[in-house]
Amino acid sequence: MTEAAIQQCLHDLPKCEHHLHIEGSLSPSLLFRLADTNKISLPAIETDPSFASPEALEGRYTRFTSLNDFLHYYYIGMSVLITTADFESLAYEYFARAHNDGVHHAEIFFDPQAHTSRGIAYETVVAGLGMAQKRAEKDFGLTSKLILCFLRHLPASDAKDTYQAAEALGHFSSGVVAGIGLDSSEVGFPPEIFKEVYESASKAGIRRTAHAGEEGDSTYISRALDLCSTERIDHGIRLVDDDALLKRVAKDKTLVTMCPLSNVRLRCVTKVAELPIRKFLTEGVRFSINSDDPAYFGGYILDNYIAVQEAFRLNLKEWKFIADGAIEGSWCDGERKQVLLEKVEQWAESYKGTL
Ligand code: HPA
Ligand code: ZN
Repeated sequence: MTEAAIQQCLHDLPKCEHHLHIEGSLSPSLLFRLADTNKISLPAIETDPSFASPEALEGRYTRFTSLNDFLHYYYIGMSVLITTADFESLAYEYFARAHNDGVHHAEIFFDPQAHTSRGIAYETVVAGLGMAQKRAEKDFGLTSKLILCFLRHLPASDAKDTYQAAEALGHFSSGVVAGIGLDSSEVGFPPEIFKEVYESASKAGIRRTAHAGEEGDSTYISRALDLCSTERIDHGIRLVDDDALLKRVAKDKTLVTMCPLSNVRLRCVTKVAELPIRKFLTEGVRFSINSDDPAYFGGYILDNYIAVQEAFRLNLKEWKFIADGAIEGSWCDGERKQVLLEKVEQWAESYKGTL
């Protein structure tokens, strides 16, 4: 198969995305445009020359030194998002792009505290995202869910207030928000700080995930599972350092949401080939491949699939295992899962004997 044919095959593979921060899909060009429209001042060029132009900013994004270095730009970037329409167009553009990459179902993160702390109402954010979700389902048949993330560098009491605000609006019981997550700076902010809010969510039957084992060691993963009863692990690349934990995650079919290009850009690994994808496949760990913050990390979901293929040369059976696992680990209902599983089956049939 030629490289172009392999890329077409990966494009056609029905995909689910589970690890996408919607604020991380804000491109430098849109960032500058919204800053202008909304009269938001960006850092002065004398302080940070990266803000001289969208191109300069794009260049800076290729030189992140760590998760915290990236987060500095990520929080400045999202400060240009003000209105419901801003959130709607951001999310709709992501859905359109994801649809073009062959995504059929997306479960996207949003960071309410990063907006409410700037005086943007939680309802403004969710209203915009919700409108985009409806339009994407109508226009592309792309189904989606929202995952409300808590910022782990802020106090647990802040996370609790955010959780209660969403709960008071009935957003969990109505399904407007499907679950909770935990993101931002990892090292020094272990998951158990947020134990109480995870316990409340668990009791209420709300889905739970957390970033763990991205920059933090494997105990961040075990603590997320044991102390916060998370159902998924976001990133989870440090699982390879604890064989018993890896076997447990495989046995429990806990979905690990991997983000290859992100891990390279944030220097968690030096190249995609260093990621434990072969190990996960041989040990039967269920995982999905995702873009994390595509506007910052140089690629959307298909770029991540292609990077994995270039590094590991997976065959059709291995890709089917990944695609089936991604569907089974999704938080959509059984009926939707069945539809998606059949699409993957048809894909495998149509590419039989090629990959
Ligand atoms: N890790 C932690 N927090 C984040 C990330 C990430 O990769 N992206 C956006 N917030
Ligand atoms: Zn992430």
